[in-house]
Parts: sequence; C-alpha cells; structure tokens
Amino acid sequence: MCGITGYLAKNAPQFVISALKMLEYRGYDSAGIATSNSKITIKKTLDGIDELGKNLKTKGNVAIGHTRWATHGKVSLKNTHPFTDCKKRVAIVHNGIITNWESLKKKMKNHKFSSETDSEIIAHLIGEQIEHGNTLLDACAKASKKLKGSFAFLAIEKGKKEIVGVCNESPLIVGEGDKIEGFSSDINAFPIQIEKIARLKDKEIAYVGRDKIELFDFNLKKQKIKWEEMEKKRIRLGEIFEHHTIKEIFEQPKVIFNVNMNEIKNAKKLLKSKRIVILACGSSKHAGEIGAREMFEKLKKEVKIEDASEIDYSPVRIDKNTVIIAVSQSGETADVLRVVKKAKGKGAKILSIINNPYSTLEKLSDYSIHLNCGQEIGVGATKSFLMQVLIFKLLSGERIDLKILSRELSKTIKGNLSRIKRISKWMAKKRDAYFIGKGKWKWAAMEGALKLKELSYIHAEGLGSGELKHGPLALIEKNSPLIAVGDNDSASTWNNAYEAKTRGAKIIGIAPRAQSFFDIWLKTSARFPLMSAAVNEQLLAYYTAVANKINPDRPKNLAKSVTVL
Ligand code: G6P
Repeated sequence: MCGITGYLAKNAPQFVISALKMLEYRGYDSAGIATSNSKITIKKTLDGIDELGKNLKTKGNVAIGHTRWATHGKVSLKNTHPFTDCKKRVAIVHNGIITNWESLKKKMKNHKFSSETDSEIIAHLIGEQIEHGNTLLDACAKASKKLKGSFAFLAIEKGKKEIVGVCNESPLIVGEGDKIEGFSSDINAFPIQIEKIARLKDKEIAYVGRDKIELFDFNLKKQKIKWEEMEKKRIRLGEIFEHHTIKEIFEQPKVIFNVNMNEIKNAKKLLKSKRIVILACGSSKHAGEIGAREMFEKLKKEVKIEDASEIDYSPVRIDKNTVIIAVSQSGETADVLRVVKKAKGKGAKILSIINNPYSTLEKLSDYSIHLNCGQEIGVGATKSFLMQVLIFKLLSGERIDLKILSRELSKTIKGNLSRIKRISKWMAKKRDAYFIGKGKWKWAAMEGALKLKELSYIHAEGLGSGELKHGPLALIEKNSPLIAVGDNDSASTWNNAYEAKTRGAKIIGIAPRAQSFFDIWLKTSARFPLMSAAVNEQLLAYYTAVANKINPDRPKNLAKSVTVL
C-alpha cells in the first residue's frame, strides 16, 4: 500500500512533492521521484517528503513520485521507488502487489535487477517492449497483460513528454486542469489547478500527453472518459492544530451533522434480509461490534460480525439471503474488498458504510451510507470511528438529537482536556495499560486500547471486564493503569475494576457518574456515554503520544489504508 502521483506541467517535480505530502498517510517508509528530460533522473530518501523536496536538482515538465509502505523488501533506498529498466529508458512507480513477479523474473535472465521488490519487474517488462520499438503506451499495455495481482502504476520514458497510468484493482485517478495533467492514488492529493478528474476502472490505461488525455483498455481499444468536476474541500492543518489527529478529534462535534438520514432510511430496507454479516478491520471492526450489539438490542436482529481477514475460517454462512455490511473508512482495505467480491459471487447484497465515495468498495456496493466526515489523515481512526458508531445507532432505530450530541461532545472535550493532558504525562511513562468494559463497552475498551497502542506505542490490552480475573489480573502491579469504561448500568465492570484496584492498579474511570474508588474520573455525557467515552480515549492516546514525542499522525509500521492482504 503506497501512494503514487505524476504530473505533466511546468515545475512538475514541485507538484509531485506537494502531492506526495498529501499521500504520505498511505505509507511513509521511504519516498522517491523521477523526472524525464534527456535522461531519467531519480532521487530517493528514507527521511520523509520534506527531505525529498530539499534542493531538488531534478527539473522538468514530467515527473512521477511514490511514497512507500514496504511489503516486498525491507525499508531501504534500493527498495524505494521509482524503478528503472536496465538501460534507464523508463521509470515506474507502483501501488499494489504483483503476485507473479518471481516467475516473470525467472524468465528475464538477461536483466539486472537492483531491488528485492515485486514492483521492479514492471520497469523491466516495459523496458523490454520499448527495446522492441514499441511506444510507451504500447509497451505498458503489453506489460500489463503479463502482470497478475493488484496494480496501479505510472510510467515515463526518457526524453518523452508523456505519462502512462495503468489500473487494476488498486485506485488510480487521472486529472486535468489548465496546462496541467496528472495522476493520483487519492483525489485529495490533486492540486487546486486540477479542474476535473476521472477514476480509472480495472484493466484501464490512461495516456497523458501534452494537452491530451486518452483512455484505453488493455487491448488499447479506446474508452470513453467519464469526467467529474473536482469538488472537494482541501485538507490543510490550520494554525491552531499541531497534528491532523487532534484536528480530527476536535472536528467531531461538527461532522456528526453531515450524517445523511436519507441514506440511513434507504439502507434500513436492506436490513430486512434473513442474514446480516458485518465485515471490517481495525477500528471499523470495533465500530461494527458495537453496531452488532445495538442492532441486536434494538432491532432484535441477529447479526454476525467477523474480521474481514478471519471470515474464511469462521462459522459464518454467506449466500443470496445475506446482506454484508462492509464497514471501511477508506473503502480500500484489501481484506474487506476480497471478502466483498467473494460474497457478491455467492449472491449476497453489499451495504457499505464508507467515508471515501471514490473508493473501490463504493463501486462494489449495492448501497452505501457515507460517513461524510471529510478526509481523515491521521493514521489512527478518530472521527470516522465516531461516525460509524453514530450510523449504526441510527440504523438500529435510536433517535438522536444531533444538536444535543454535538453539545455533549464539545463538553466532553472542553471539560476533560486539561485533566487528560495531565494524566497523559503520567501514562507516557508506563509500559502497559488495560482497558475493560462489558457488552458494547468491551468494544469501546478495545478501541481505547488500540488507540493508545497505535498512537503512543504503549502496550495496551482491551478486554471484557469479566475476563480480567481469568488471566490478565496476574499482570496487574502497583500503579498499573486500568481504564474502565461504562455507563450507569455498568456495575459489574466497576466490580471488576475494584478487584484490580485491590491488587494495586490505578483506576481511570470513563463514565457519566464517578465511583468512589476511581483514582481519576473522566466524566462522560449521560445521554451519549459511549461516543463521549470514545472521545476521551482518543484524547488520552493523542496526548500520551505527544508526551512521548511521537508523531501521532504517522505511527511507525502502519498506514492509513491497508491495500495488501
Ligand atoms: C488500518 C488503519 C486503521 C483502520 C483500519 C481499517 O489498519 O491504520 O486506523 O481502522 O486500517 O481501515 P478502513 O479504511 O477499512 O476503515
């Protein structure tokens, strides 16, 4: 999973650098840029996009760039894109996984490979076709037919003012403006100059030449381009926020108003189906777990839920009587897409809860409910998680006054901020933390633990509070942080927390009412305790990361959308 971009414009390298900054959330292990003049010039770095942009000697009107999340081959300069063929006639950047790269490589004995990646094979295949006298477009089409797997790649040729973009099961968008044309993995990374865009479908190739964009299939049969006007809100950090994560946490009282009640109403029709299976990964899975319990409680509807990466091994039946609720902020998570495609093959209907309306999941869905919370850049999900929970509550028939919810969320943030900043400094020195809750609160606890570990690198365990005494209690020692989450009906969670306190734990209670044994109380809204608790957990994780001088927007080894299986 990586970000790719490329421009044909005056100062194309500058456009590429700016776009890579916006794509960095897709992977930030390393980055690189290639330009084409009389020769191909390449610069790579392991030190971030700012470094890549510094003293950029590469000038020109044609440039492609890449920001990497390592899959094949460790994080190193030699494994950093762009890659060239042996004769340095072409350069490519790739997002996806080429599954048959090893067998292709074996057949290319006379080629010298410089990296351990699957991607490099693309440059050599194109280079070989150019060698046989093909144009870059022909060469890309011929090479693409030999590739298996998921790939979006861009290719440029020495001395040519053109970029070819190829798409198969990885997102790629082509854009056009006044004296600028280019490509991006994500619509939000296009510069203001791009006026219209078109999403490539699987097995399509876009040719970008001077003032000319054409679309083809892999047999080079011309396709009609479906342009869409570029309407979007560009995401930039404002003056007052240091990181996207905190900006996104603070946005929550506002973005809840964007929920589309019509979409919810229409989606409810699909819930009449015999079997409902929720499918998601990471924080979206936690929201789904809460949703499944809300639906069972309020609609008396039995709902199965499974990790998208685990469903093949679990006792869940999927057939034509099944509605899959696929929950994914990005709409690009490979595990989710894989199961959705399989389920469609069995006749299941797909209802997605999705933030990115330009995503692959959107295309695969029978119906989508959109989070509409704007792009989320921080790698840890915050506002998207809250919107997913809200949508599940509404789908389950809960009546929610959004104005009151907004006010309560604002109160949560303002009321607890200075206290959370203080606790975070204490938390930052800890090695482990435990989050407990029961029923849907177990999943609020799991999300709290996930946030803390991914943002601050502190080992955190989330569990059903009843499970504490069946093992994890052995780990509790003096001053171990134990975060208990619940509402006014959570007596058994408080009992379990007390048992941990007796063994030395320090109890942070996240609840509408304080219990006498809480060491620290983070007050939550009595009307919306769960969503209010989630905001407290996000703030705790964020400020703990900041106290440990970790950039919460970009946790190491992670990426925002995981487009590999
Ligand atoms: C990654 C992100 C998580 C996210 C998960 C699922 O692991 O780091 O924040 O929850 O993917 O992503 P999705 O886009 O499908 O919601």
